[in-house]
Amino acid sequence: MAEEAHRRPRSEGPSERPVALITGASSGIGRATAARLAGAGWEVLLSGTDRTRLDELAARTGGRALPEDLSKPDGPARLAEAALAAAGRVDALVASAGLGWRGPYADTPSDILDRMIEVNLAAPLRLVRLLLPGMLERRHGRIVLLGSIAGQVGVRDESGYAATKGGLAMFAESLWYELRGTGVGVRLVLPGPVDTPFFDRRGTPYQRERPRPVSAERVAETVVATIHTERDRLFVPQWLGVPARIHGAAPGVFRRMASRFG
Ligand SMILES: NC(=O)c1ccc[n+]([C@@H]2O[C@H](COP(=O)([O-])OP(=O)(O)OC[C@H]3O[C@@H](n4cnc5c(N)ncnc54)[C@H](OP(=O)(O)O)[C@@H]3O)[C@@H](O)[C@H]2O)c1
Repeated sequence: MAEEAHRRPRSEGPSERPVALITGASSGIGRATAARLAGAGWEVLLSGTDRTRLDELAARTGGRALPEDLSKPDGPARLAEAALAAAGRVDALVASAGLGWRGPYADTPSDILDRMIEVNLAAPLRLVRLLLPGMLERRHGRIVLLGSIAGQVGVRDESGYAATKGGLAMFAESLWYELRGTGVGVRLVLPGPVDTPFFDRRGTPYQRERPRPVSAERVAETVVATIHTERDRLFVPQWLGVPARIHGAAPGVFRRMASRFG
């Protein structure tokens, strides 16, 4: 059933505007992205678990609230189905839902580990599996995945979180080859720290001096830019690409620098 989601009957006619499904739309980066896309004339389908915040954003943007718990294995299929029923198609998927946890890996609560794997990694993979066939059929579509600098260079005490983001990065990298010349593009946005409720929710504040947190609006601007350009891998701020390149070229040197300078 899940694989057939893009062919399900529609309860309403297809939207005349481009349609974006944004996960994590009830907060932070997803919320800022939804507002920006709506301002640019997109029909926005808003995913999260907090119905009140989704309804409030829907009222502000003219979008549709589609509450769904993406930590449940069948959550992504229900969300894809609801999105297609609401708008007839999805032109852009912005996968921003995510959560973190900080502390020694051996102490990671197993329910939080499961949720990070489901929401950060499995849900985007499942959603893309469900929405990509329709995009390929129309030879048109964008998939924007929210990775993290943590998934590029690794971060002490964030092993589980970094693993989900590293997995997402390799998914984007591999899919890129498949999608060349199809009219569908995959984009990976790689923020450093962003000033959102993410840190409060994970239970430990962001305490480093550098990099300084950027605003959710700044990341949203990059997300929207990736939809309209061919740039498929963008760090926010851009200079974070430098440590990522050093790590890629010489991981030993990077580790020594990271241990020394934090
Ligand atoms: N903030 C940072 O420093 C930072 C840095 C790099 C990458 N990122 C990544 O950027 C993305 C957005 O993060 P953010 O900073 O905007 O965080 P945020 O403000 O905490 O927002 C997280 C969003 O994910 C949704 N979500 C969490 N669990 C969910 C579930 N089980 N089912 C459905 N939705 C769920 C939340 O929805 P509800 O509240 O409605 O449950 C919320 O809308 C995440 O993937 C994060 O890993 C963040």
